[in-house]
Amino acid sequence: MPKKVILDVDTGCDDAVAILLALNSPELEVLAIGTTHGNVEADLAALNTLRVLEWVGRDDIPVAAGAAAPLNQPLRTARWVHGEDGLGNLYLPPPRGKPTGEHAADQIVRLARRHPGEVTLIATGPLTNLALALVKEPRLPELIREVILMGGSAFYGGNLSPWAEANIGHDPEAAAAVFAAPWPVTMVGLDVTMAALFTRAMHEELGRCPRPGAQLAHRVLAHYLDFYDRVYGRDGCAQHDALAVAVAIDPTLVEAPLLPVQVETRGEHTRGMTVVDRRALLADRVPELFPDRDRWHVRVALKVDGERFLSLLLERLTR
Ligand code: BDR
Ligand code: CA
Repeated sequence: MPKKVILDVDTGCDDAVAILLALNSPELEVLAIGTTHGNVEADLAALNTLRVLEWVGRDDIPVAAGAAAPLNQPLRTARWVHGEDGLGNLYLPPPRGKPTGEHAADQIVRLARRHPGEVTLIATGPLTNLALALVKEPRLPELIREVILMGGSAFYGGNLSPWAEANIGHDPEAAAAVFAAPWPVTMVGLDVTMAALFTRAMHEELGRCPRPGAQLAHRVLAHYLDFYDRVYGRDGCAQHDALAVAVAIDPTLVEAPLLPVQVETRGEHTRGMTVVDRRALLADRVPELFPDRDRWHVRVALKVDGERFLSLLLERLTR
């Protein structure tokens, strides 16, 4: 039986690839997609998501636009990373379809109630919709099977600021609520996403495949690769969001120990940081230091089998 998933995205170049990976993976059944502010506004993210779905003939999947702004700070987008249109400046024609009109947070609550204990939430943008859904339905942690999110970092540091990764830094209060709720969370952060870069050689391989999804990913990623080249001087771009989807497909792609995580919301220089208690890696040796250990519920991905992840991604996009 495939895992039932709801994607929550801010589409976004790498979100687009993550969506394509999910659609091409028989291990997952995408029930619906919600969008949030982040890389672009939530409304544009919804249109971009519809563009991706229509490109590959999957307009049967409902798309709900969600939170237009973070809970407690002004909206900030990342067009300098993803292009003015959010999809690598391709300026694809408007989609034929429309967002459903339901709020993405309501969509999460409705589907969680309809499929209690079965739905995996995969979040690849700021966590505002998930935080709103927790307020709307306090029993959500019991209704959801697990949350897999792209965001944060334990050792790597930040990309939005010295210590904040973008998805957490774009709404620290929402992230704090999501990490605090008692559901199983897997944090797929920069420690692993920056350790498995998708190279230009892989990009060329993608370009040789005539399938529509491969062609779309190839076009979207051209811009993203240039960004990585310019900013990091690296031959290759991270596939942040696709790695979160890949972990839903195959959790053995990462080593992810249970660790306590707090989101910093007040730090003068560290707002949006995921404060991971790395001392807890020693908990087996000194259990007396960690009396609350049975309440830990966040797995933090610290290592990734990059080769296996990237070949899974290429294979799923081109097959
Ligand atoms: C995350 O931020 C966004 O720009 C990407 O889509 C990804 O979800 C990486 O920090
Ligand atoms: Ca994203």
